[in-house]
Amino acid sequence: MAKKLKVGVIGLGSMGSTHLDIYSQISEVEVVAVADPKKNRLDGSSKAEGNISGQAQGSVVGFEAKKYLDGMDLINDPDIELVDICVGTNLHFVFVEAALAKGKHVLVEKPLARTYDEAKKIVELALNSSTNIMSAMCLRYWPAWVWLKKVIDSKQYGRCLSLTCKRQTSHPPGTFYSNDDECGGALLDLHVHDTDFINYCFGMPKAVFSQGYKGPSGGIDHVATHYIYDQSQNAPLVTAEGTWTMQEGYGFNMSYTANFEKATACYLLDDEETLTLFRSSYEPEIIKLDEGMGYEFEIRSFVDEILRGEKSDMTLLNQAAKSIAIIEAEQVSIRSCSVVTLSV
Ligand SMILES: NC(=O)c1ccc[n+]([C@@H]2O[C@H](COP(=O)([O-])OP(=O)(O)OC[C@H]3O[C@@H](n4cnc5c(N)ncnc54)[C@H](O)[C@@H]3O)[C@@H](O)[C@H]2O)c1
Repeated sequence: MAKKLKVGVIGLGSMGSTHLDIYSQISEVEVVAVADPKKNRLDGSSKAEGNISGQAQGSVVGFEAKKYLDGMDLINDPDIELVDICVGTNLHFVFVEAALAKGKHVLVEKPLARTYDEAKKIVELALNSSTNIMSAMCLRYWPAWVWLKKVIDSKQYGRCLSLTCKRQTSHPPGTFYSNDDECGGALLDLHVHDTDFINYCFGMPKAVFSQGYKGPSGGIDHVATHYIYDQSQNAPLVTAEGTWTMQEGYGFNMSYTANFEKATACYLLDDEETLTLFRSSYEPEIIKLDEGMGYEFEIRSFVDEILRGEKSDMTLLNQAAKSIAIIEAEQVSIRSCSVVTLSV
């Protein structure tokens, strides 16, 4: 039997248990250790919940794994080849730095780090490392967004004239999401998905103009941004709104409307998931999407890359870092109520 890739998961909250669920479905992988300071998470008697149906389905119950109360001890375990970091964003940098120093492959949940300064340092460390690293920007792997990126790049329906993204939910539970210093508010934690996808599709904007207000995290928990690209050069009109200030019970939704020269694509994920394509002289068409969440395709792709012995594409990591620079410019724009130029 082929040797399995030995994985250790740090942090057994909503994302740690989502990742455990996915690893349990990948035959080439064995989760050999988990870490969390909460004993009830380590023994499986307390389980985190996700805000999207299908998240947080994994459990530590039912398989043998070493259990550590601190993620640093897991990193020091010589058995582990891939360290999967699912702790709060404020801890990403220290754990990534330690894991790369020990020669481990690293999967780190999004956003790459709490600040752009930390994210830049991670990129530098990764460039000097022989192992693989992925920032888990899951939208890049989410079927409806993969479809969108493909039609933007191929210009199958002509040039993309405009893209509007929206992401709305009520405030997630837990102390991490109630502390802006740790999570960066909905601005960094939630809205970074759309900011990063926009950066991934169209590159760095010249400037941003954002408005927003504070909420339960103490930071910006509702934001709306114009990403300013040069329209004299046929660049699209791009906007995104993200919030977790909706009243309890509202649920979660994410959506986009992309207008092309020859088609309009509308995507909505709430209780169901629908992508509809409108074209003049055609009946509206429901686009059939691959089944599964972005997390699944993202983790499979990272594991395959490691098993094939391929080095990670540093452009993707660099882009994930720069997306944090855009978020920080959005924050300055909200504070100053002005257009903020990006210089990175
Ligand atoms: N990709 C996505 O769609 C998505 C969704 C939700 C959260 N996230 C990201 O995932 C990360 C974690 O979010 P979450 O919702 O799972 O948070 P969470 O608070 O539910 O879980 C974090 C876990 O880390 C544990 N932890 C804290 N310090 C630790 C240490 N020193 N060693 C080991 N474990 C430690 C905590 O006890 C907790 O169980 C955040 O960066 C968040 O932004 C990504």
